[in-house]
Amino acid sequence: MLKLIPMVLDIKNVETKALKEISQAKSNKSLESLRIKYLGRKSGVLPEITRQIPKLPKEQRNGVGTEINNLRAKLESLLTQKTNPEIATKETGFDITTPGKQIDTGSVHPITTVMDTVKEIFHSLGFSWIDGPEVELDAYNFQKLNMPPNHPARDVQQTYYIDRELLLRTHTSSMQVRYMENHKPPIRVLFPGRCYRRDMPDSTHLPSFYQIEGLLVDDVSKMSDLVGTLDYFAKAFFGKNTKTRVYGHHFAYTEPSIEMEVYYPEKGWLEVLGAGMVNPIVLKNGHIDPNKFRGWAFGMGSDRLALLKYGIGDIRILYNNDIRFLNQF
Ligand code: PHE
Repeated sequence: MLKLIPMVLDIKNVETKALKEISQAKSNKSLESLRIKYLGRKSGVLPEITRQIPKLPKEQRNGVGTEINNLRAKLESLLTQKTNPEIATKETGFDITTPGKQIDTGSVHPITTVMDTVKEIFHSLGFSWIDGPEVELDAYNFQKLNMPPNHPARDVQQTYYIDRELLLRTHTSSMQVRYMENHKPPIRVLFPGRCYRRDMPDSTHLPSFYQIEGLLVDDVSKMSDLVGTLDYFAKAFFGKNTKTRVYGHHFAYTEPSIEMEVYYPEKGWLEVLGAGMVNPIVLKNGHIDPNKFRGWAFGMGSDRLALLKYGIGDIRILYNNDIRFLNQF
């Protein structure tokens, strides 16, 4: 049993004894048992002294903890130094001095970051989000959105058809009626996801890209709420001094329709999204009574948002998986 008083002297004795034993140790095994004897958590000498500290009279407690820590560090490094790596290799079967393999950690893709940021901003406004099918029925992508077969508005969305009824969705608006069919107002929801169009790849187009759609249906919302919300979003996403403007546009599924632009000092006004009051025909297709309810919707390209936010000049770089590019995020 260790003498408690005076503690510091005891620690000196422990040190002298431990150093002697370590210097006499002839094998890794005996070094290991010395490590356990002095440093072992359960019944090692040093941890045991540490446990006694609170029992000491106050005047004697001072400095004991530091003494112990210093001694522990000293013994640890001595034990490590003396442990023979070659013998350790023999005993353990592997060379303990081999440097570990570095594990490369990835980072979140900028498009994912953009989507997450958009979700977060709208979440604070009460929106949830839900995925939808990328292989979609013509009915949800076009017909129920007030674009019957041969409607001219289909022309601007170069479509990959799988057969007469099935296609790759050209926009996330395909989720509007799908969602309305199964949910009653009030509705506040985002539809993030991948879309496809037969576009030639260039610096601003790719045949596959991401959009985030927003849909709100209740009995009070107005166009001014839509514009105010989009302006709030732009400021939250691009920065609080961001200027926005909207102007009239045409989408078959919103009436009236608008587009919103964001002002970039170096580039001028840039279009970031399409939006509008949900066309009553679309509400009806979603089994919602347009005489009782109204809504608004918007859709924006996540890739486009990423280009603008990070000042990237070419959309293709987002999909090349070039580590030198991705490492910056
Ligand atoms: N779907 C439109 C597009 O892809 C955007 C939009 C969404 C417009 C919702 C109005 C309402 O450009």
